[in-house]
Amino acid sequence: MRKLIVFNWKMGPPSLAQAKRLLTHNLQQTIKNKNGEIVICPPFIYLSGLSSVVSRQSLVKLGAQDVFWENRGAYTGEISPAMLKNSKVDYVIVGHSERRRHLGETDEMINKKVLAALRAGFKVILCVGEPARELRIKNNELRMKAAKNYVKNQLERDLRGIHNSKFIIRNSLIVAYEPIWAIGTGVPAEPENVREMIQFIKKLLITNYHLLIPKVLYGGSVDSRNIADFLKYPEIDGALVGGASLKSAEVRDIIKIVSKHST
Ligand code: PGA
Repeated sequence: MRKLIVFNWKMGPPSLAQAKRLLTHNLQQTIKNKNGEIVICPPFIYLSGLSSVVSRQSLVKLGAQDVFWENRGAYTGEISPAMLKNSKVDYVIVGHSERRRHLGETDEMINKKVLAALRAGFKVILCVGEPARELRIKNNELRMKAAKNYVKNQLERDLRGIHNSKFIIRNSLIVAYEPIWAIGTGVPAEPENVREMIQFIKKLLITNYHLLIPKVLYGGSVDSRNIADFLKYPEIDGALVGGASLKSAEVRDIIKIVSKHST
């Protein structure tokens, strides 16, 4: 199976010229390694500048780091699904924990974004994951139980009403399991625990949300040294990479490894 790797550039790099250089470098690596699916999520301001570079190649897709739920209206600072469609964006990240934490995004807002983005025809990457509170439970079985419970409740709120959307639309949903304590800390979750959580999420997506073949990624301190530990499991469909995605050497190595784990 082809693995999906999403590079989330967060708030970097500081200029469009640097963003173009970084993307061009990624493209070169991808051309050499045709397996796997690569998505680059730059800040909004670079999307139109990068779309011309991406459209010359079909191997890399563009993603946005967020989207608003309305297509028009007085919403200062927001970016609509229609605007993203016109910038050749195929993927949209929704509900990243940094937006939940620093910008006060609620599950209700995230739910509206998920539904609007799916309706607009995007592949939606919904981020879920438990906070550090769960990590303090020392017993692994009990910790996993608490984490699963947290993620199940989060999915219930974020995916409210998704059953009513058309089958094809529902199946454009991708979930990224990102335990908050693993993001940007350099300490990823245990691959075996991630596998177990992803199996759990997939079962929920099939039985409760009627998805056919759900895709679930792992995110949280993924880099070239540890990505193979996750991709080796067939249940883990790929990774959401943050910090490492701004380092060219890391990107090159990650794409090489992804290629090896994709068939
Ligand atoms: P990280 O970020 O790879 O820097 O931990 C992951 C993410 O924010 O999705």
